[in-house]
Amino acid sequence: MAVNLNDLRELAYQNLSSSALDYYRSGSRDERTLARNEQAWSEIELWPRVMVDVSKRTLETTVLGQRIDAPILVAPTAFHGLAHADAELGTARAARGTVMCLSTLSNTAVERVVATVGGPVWFQLYVYKDRGAARALVERAEAAGCSALVLTVDAPVLGVRERDVRNRFTLPKHLSMPNALPDADTLPEVDDSGLGTWFAQLLDESLSWNDLNWLASITSLPIVVKGVVRHDDARRAQDHGARAIVVSNHGGRQLDGSVPTAVALPHVVDATDLEVYVDGGIRRGHDVLRALALGARAVLVGRPVLWGLAANGAAGARRALDILRGELDEAMALSGCASVEDVGDWLIRP
Ligand code: GLV
Repeated sequence: MAVNLNDLRELAYQNLSSSALDYYRSGSRDERTLARNEQAWSEIELWPRVMVDVSKRTLETTVLGQRIDAPILVAPTAFHGLAHADAELGTARAARGTVMCLSTLSNTAVERVVATVGGPVWFQLYVYKDRGAARALVERAEAAGCSALVLTVDAPVLGVRERDVRNRFTLPKHLSMPNALPDADTLPEVDDSGLGTWFAQLLDESLSWNDLNWLASITSLPIVVKGVVRHDDARRAQDHGARAIVVSNHGGRQLDGSVPTAVALPHVVDATDLEVYVDGGIRRGHDVLRALALGARAVLVGRPVLWGLAANGAAGARRALDILRGELDEAMALSGCASVEDVGDWLIRP
């Protein structure tokens, strides 16, 4: 049995094709941010309280007013069909009780995922150069029943993952991208990363803060801005209509050398009254506790869910989330916290 997320990762490594494995595990360029994300959490020391009655504990919380069973959301990641035949439907089954963020680049249509998940789905949005097509995609996500849009703002171009370039990464023939434009619903076969080429051809490098106002004007869904690490950008996001912010460096896949999210998080929390979530390198429930202590409302996990899905389909992805919830429960009890409201910055201060 997989006792921790490393065990699940080992199992996943046995099941994945080398190209899929490289795609999931890669960071950009020297992968420094990828490595630093995990390390930075472990460097935050905890100062637990003792002799607190923790006999009745709950991990429940809310995000954007939605009750969830623990402050752990499923991050948007692309191409779950590379991990398992059930693809995003497997992840959706595993995500019951929490929010699933579905990537624009999923191998399963948004309508099918929303019908399967039985809980809230937030739609991660990449904005096309063709604004008519971008608008149509937003309308489609809204009509499907998604309850928020997660606008990725750290990817005007795709950070270069050198393994994908070497592998000439593309999708196998049986997988497509049914949320994408019909004439661009697969990745090209090029002498480079097919995803990098797809990005450059279709996505809008000119995206800027005023476009957030545009997005807010064409949808009634709340907009979560994902990919902020700076204090001033957090303020801009709030001023331009964001309802929540995800502190993220895209799992170390965009600007290599970018600050680890555990370091950036308190700067963003200081800058805004919005709900702040964080992703990147969360590998233990203890890291979730650290994130809450730094002021995050919740975390998102990406790769661990993919490892679980690759290891054992929906049950494996569910196991990844259960492992994190179990560890968070343990860490809270051992810190003197009976609920997430009890967690505060006292936990990381002498
Ligand atoms: C897609 O968003 C990726 O980071 O590969």
